[in-house]
Amino acid sequence: MTQIDHHILPAATNLRRVLSALERVSTKICLIVDADGRILRTVTDGDVRRALLGGHNLDSLVSVLGERQPVTRPHGTSRTELLSVLDERAIDAIVLVDSEGKPVDLADRTTLTKTLLLSPPHIGKTEAGYVQLAFDENWVAPAGPNLNAFEDALCRVSGRQHAVALVSGTAGLHLALRVLDIGEGDRVYVSDLTFAASVQPILYVGAEPVFIDSEPESWNMSPAALERALEQDKRAGRLPKAVIVVHLYGQSANMNALLKLTEAYGVPVIEDAAESLGANYGNRPSGAHGLMSVYSFNGNKIITTSGGGALVSDRPDLVERARKLATQGRDNAEHYQHSDLSYNYRMSNVLAGIGRGQLEVLSDRVAARRAIFERYVDGLSKIPGVGFQMEVEGSIGNRWLTVISLDPDEIALHPYQLMRSLKARGIETRPAWKPMQMQPLFSDIQFEPHMPDRAVSPGLFLTSLCLPSGSAMSVSEQEGVIEAVTDILASGGQS
Ligand SMILES: Cc1ncc(COP(=O)(O)O)c(C=O)c1O
Repeated sequence: MTQIDHHILPAATNLRRVLSALERVSTKICLIVDADGRILRTVTDGDVRRALLGGHNLDSLVSVLGERQPVTRPHGTSRTELLSVLDERAIDAIVLVDSEGKPVDLADRTTLTKTLLLSPPHIGKTEAGYVQLAFDENWVAPAGPNLNAFEDALCRVSGRQHAVALVSGTAGLHLALRVLDIGEGDRVYVSDLTFAASVQPILYVGAEPVFIDSEPESWNMSPAALERALEQDKRAGRLPKAVIVVHLYGQSANMNALLKLTEAYGVPVIEDAAESLGANYGNRPSGAHGLMSVYSFNGNKIITTSGGGALVSDRPDLVERARKLATQGRDNAEHYQHSDLSYNYRMSNVLAGIGRGQLEVLSDRVAARRAIFERYVDGLSKIPGVGFQMEVEGSIGNRWLTVISLDPDEIALHPYQLMRSLKARGIETRPAWKPMQMQPLFSDIQFEPHMPDRAVSPGLFLTSLCLPSGSAMSVSEQEGVIEAVTDILASGGQS
């Protein structure tokens, strides 16, 4: 939406006023209107230049420019049509008018060709300063003050005593399995509805994943399915060595119910909190409940270090072992001595500088994403058949991504059709994660459904769509998404 008032000038305007108006607006075009506010013509700085070179002066009225039919289209014209008019006429802006011919908006090429992204990085004011510090102090290394300060700050926000910053969240999960000595022949339970990174590290260590279904409300690991799987495996004498619980899209899993079960069976929990930094459960940060937790600072997450992750825990021995494994497993000796298979997984001091600055704005980012979620609920929940992922009792999610579900009994449109129509309007959306049991990579792997005769995660995948949720998104951009979703659903995908 353009601030159209700044572009509008009456017919009795001189060229001096046109030039000063053009200086103030980003789309370089003025709209000359008649006494009733109807568009007469448009003026660009090229028009003014031609008039001056033709002998007119700055006090000349715009009428010296002569008449020219402005390019207008009714407000509400589709983005595709507007773009084709821009191309056909080789112009950069179209005046959008109401039924009386009064300008209400400007459709300019830059805005029309810009895609509203799903979850782009949102950098604050201090990140560049911390990165500069690394250069100033020549700590361009996988160690240094930014890294130490970032790990300290991470301990504070995650409610944990120890943290090790790493190259990725995936590396964090890999190390969590390694420090528990999980390997060949072991079983590891993991949420079925998640990103593949929750599961790949189980394969890295040669263990066998078992996929646990979602519960319908929170979309996170179903306590009912977990209980059944644990009972069966206890009877079979093959209890898992760990359970990886994912906090999907920033909403916490039902940790009380899940931990009650894992404690009863003596199985440690690794929280995959890659998406839930800044969320809360039971008055403690998300990631402060299991034995160890992992965060991701990938570019699309609520805060980012461009790429990165961390492992946190209250157990110093576990975090220290992870730190050692992340730095090629060098033993405490004067020479280079190594006793363990290990990795180069440590975050650099430069990237930790970005992380330091990003942690300072984490609570703002959570507040912004929660407000975005609330506006989506206000704008879309009145459409019959549109639903949202719920928060479990006692939790406050970070609403990393707002995900809508479309009830197929009420809405004929497949989420992919909605996704494609939104893309044509410059709005990026993504399907929900495809359940792990449906992935070709994992086709032979055991899956425990929510109810013995009912799986939940495939239905969530087939009916859901992640909406743009970036914390820097403006209210008017979000209103544009709500309007587009409403239009497309109302027209059954024909608009
Ligand atoms: C649920 C989940 N687990 C793990 C990861 C892996 O994190 P990273 O990309 O930092 O390796 C991600 C994100 O990418 C994720 O969404």
